[in-house]
Amino acid sequence: MTIFKSFLSIFFVFLLALATTKAKAQEEGSLPMNGDISNGTRLYRVHCTVCHGFHGSGDGPARATLKKAPADHRNGSLMNARDDQMLLSTVLNGCHTRGCSKAMPAFGDGLNSLDAWDLVAYLRSLHMPLVNFFPKVSQYLVKQYHIGHLGNDDFKDGQMERLKKYAGRVSPQDLTKTIFPLFKADSRRPNPELVPQEPRRLARLKKADKLGYVLFMEMIGPRKRKVPIGLAIDRNYAIVKLVTTLDDPGQAGEYNRRLEKYVGMGKRGDAPKFKTGRAKVNRIFDKAVIRVYALAVEAANAFELEERERSWADDTF
Ligand code: HEC
Repeated sequence: MTIFKSFLSIFFVFLLALATTKAKAQEEGSLPMNGDISNGTRLYRVHCTVCHGFHGSGDGPARATLKKAPADHRNGSLMNARDDQMLLSTVLNGCHTRGCSKAMPAFGDGLNSLDAWDLVAYLRSLHMPLVNFFPKVSQYLVKQYHIGHLGNDDFKDGQMERLKKYAGRVSPQDLTKTIFPLFKADSRRPNPELVPQEPRRLARLKKADKLGYVLFMEMIGPRKRKVPIGLAIDRNYAIVKLVTTLDDPGQAGEYNRRLEKYVGMGKRGDAPKFKTGRAKVNRIFDKAVIRVYALAVEAANAFELEERERSWADDTF
């Protein structure tokens, strides 16, 4: 009987531990409260616009006096790579502890943490969040690759050959890509968690839970116009979503109608032969989309190479 009792108490301690870790996991990476965007907007105009610009794209009047350009808060690649805590801490303490410029001031003396949360809420409204691409995302990573620099010679040559074929000429800048691999998890979170690049955390991400990848890139549109886009591909490399992040609603609508046609196209291992029509404008879009798609696929290939190596090392394959 006593053995049974002590077994029971151990069991309850175990249950309690399980419940607290779960609650902790849910707390991590989620906003403790919803910030007030309208107060955030007002504070941004007062404190941030001078450097970060009226629309947050980093082109405020003080830009010219700074060595380092203020961050572009509309840039999905940059902003999705920061979780809410990082943004909050940046507003209160600056970000020089993470190696960024001291020109980014600390506002902790003038603003309280409620105001800082309101600013975070406003910052979040300026860029396209990852849930827009995969509503089920619950955890994600941010990775940066210089395509063609990872893996053995066969792998690298394969990447460069495919890019030459589908993307045409690529500059070193084109080859540096930020990619967000997205995962779903059992526990639901109000906000997806940015998983830190620690071997133990990485090992816990299951390949079977991978939803796909998101990248923010620039596409060359008609009249050589640079068009910022967000591209999501699923784990089999089919296009799930392709949208422009242009501010101008009229222009964005026109581009998005064209970009939507590519959803469902593309497949792992297949040559991207996207055709949406015979008109010149269709051909310009087809070529431009094939190019960004080819770059996205190679960035995903680089991630999957690392993922395979990680699984071998952990013996989870
Ligand atoms: C005096 C100019 C200046 C002002 C004012 C300013 N910033 Fe910045 N901010 C910068 C610069 C410069 C950087 C780029 C730092 C770097 O990347 O090294 C930056 C970067 C950032 C980043 C990105 C940090 C990261 O993790 O890379 C955030 C977020 C940010 N600022 C938010 C704000 C907010 C919110 C305000 C207003 C409360 C503000 N900034 C006011 C100059 C400024």
